[in-house]
Amino acid sequence: MRARVNAASPFARKVRIVARETDLIARIEEIDTAVSPVAANAELAAANPLVKIPTLILDDGTTLYDSRVICEYLDALAGNRLFPQSGVERWQALRLQALCDGILDAAVLIRYETAVRPEAVRWPDWIAAQRGKIEGGLAALEHAQPGFGASFGIGQVGAACVLGYLDFRFPDIAWRARYPRLEAWFAEASKRASVHDTAPPA
Ligand code: BEZ
Repeated sequence: MRARVNAASPFARKVRIVARETDLIARIEEIDTAVSPVAANAELAAANPLVKIPTLILDDGTTLYDSRVICEYLDALAGNRLFPQSGVERWQALRLQALCDGILDAAVLIRYETAVRPEAVRWPDWIAAQRGKIEGGLAALEHAQPGFGASFGIGQVGAACVLGYLDFRFPDIAWRARYPRLEAWFAEASKRASVHDTAPPA
């Protein structure tokens, strides 16, 4: 299998962590793929009409996207270690994944707005609204954290990607000052090889 990923992308990091947690990484070639919200990468477009990473290309040429589908596909191949298969545990895990993906959506939108969009056409109120989603999401994550327990499933993969991406692109958010349970949890989670080995570039 080949995975189109990017070391800076938190959504690609979800897939990269799952590939390692499931021990499938030896069967996956990770291809570093440059992406821009305004200039389509032709190679990526050939595999994914949405021109987004992560994209997984199976050995028979089938392509899979987005991160949610790829993560669940890999986990199914490996025997369902990270996604509960039924019951309340499944919906809680999927909701936690959705919460983390939503925080990441808001963060990546701000990143594009501030790093890519010309300054003259930036919209401060819109950026503030996205920032509010990040704060609301972090507060919900802090509230949910006691339920993480010792397990590391798809929701916790998402949480590690959220906190890592905020450290990488938004150190000014200084989330540790307000979310002590997340701080303690992330310090432990960062010791996992899958999290450590996929950290964004310094
Ligand atoms: C980033 O550089 O922050 C980034 C790169 C790819 C996807 C999303 C974000």
